Amino acid sequence: MQATARAQPNIALIKYWGKRDVARNLPAVGSLSITLADLYTEMDVRFDAALASDKLTVNGTDNITMLPRISRTLDSVAGANRLCARVASRCNFPVAAGLASSASAFAALTVAASSASGKERSIAELASLAGRASGSAARSLYGGFAELSNEANDVSVTTLAAAEDWPLRVVVAITTRAAKPVSSGDAMEISRKTSPFYQRWVDEQEQDLAAARSAVSTRDFSDLASIAEHNCLKMHSVMWASRPPMVYWNAATLNCLQTIRELQAEGVAVFFTVDAGPQVKAVCTAEAEQRVCAALRATDGVEALMQSGLGAGAGLISNQSRTPA
Ligand code: DP6
Repeated sequence: MQATARAQPNIALIKYWGKRDVARNLPAVGSLSITLADLYTEMDVRFDAALASDKLTVNGTDNITMLPRISRTLDSVAGANRLCARVASRCNFPVAAGLASSASAFAALTVAASSASGKERSIAELASLAGRASGSAARSLYGGFAELSNEANDVSVTTLAAAEDWPLRVVVAITTRAAKPVSSGDAMEISRKTSPFYQRWVDEQEQDLAAARSAVSTRDFSDLASIAEHNCLKMHSVMWASRPPMVYWNAATLNCLQTIRELQAEGVAVFFTVDAGPQVKAVCTAEAEQRVCAALRATDGVEALMQSGLGAGAGLISNQSRTPA
């Protein structure tokens, strides 16, 4: 009744922002992402008849804030008549700061809970369940370049290219370690209800996805850069025009964007993307990585850098749910 899984966060190049069904957590738009290799969340799930309620620790410390969402996910993965569970999460990067920690957390939780409850599920079924917990988590079941598409009452994810097919690098500039003020789920709903740009955002997503898909298939870095930056800034424009406005950026976020613009002007193969937080993710070629790191490290307000290649989707590390013969 115990299993451990590991999942890597993913970075959306064409973003998920907005829900078409809040109760089932179905996204309003498709999205396209890259799964990282070197950052991860490990989730240990142990169902235990002796427990009276679910327990959660995050990096060794009790956590009750995330517990209701974890419990709901356990219900949907293991069934509502399941035993209570002890869940231990370990993460090697800062949580709740726009680094897709919920993607890796809920992808790993879904894989571990499914296995610990003795269910045999396909990756597509696991992605669908993970997506109900957190939309971006569905993509972390898949490695490399993944596209999430809307289906009737569900989502499906396909791999457009494996990590090794186009081994780009990601440099994350951490501009603050503080937790974000509004969760992305809540912020999306504010955008849907109040932003004058929301519908336009939804309407244009298919063409942005098509452009990114084509750039991935031809490995055209400058086309991918151009559509990813456009889609990111469009998502933030939706947020900025919401009421109340949601500006996740700080001064250092803008400084990083300026640094990346300067690198681009010097011919360096790099582009930026920013999620619901103030960190800047610089996507670049392996040849460009050292210059990108040096320039971002020297940028005002950057506290730290993290670097990663692209990697595989979520997977099981261990399972002790079957009694030995
Ligand atoms: C800006 O997946 O965290 O990172 O489904 O409410 O859990 P919920 O939202 P979440 O939103 C991610 C938003 C984003 C863009 C993206 O990853 O596509």
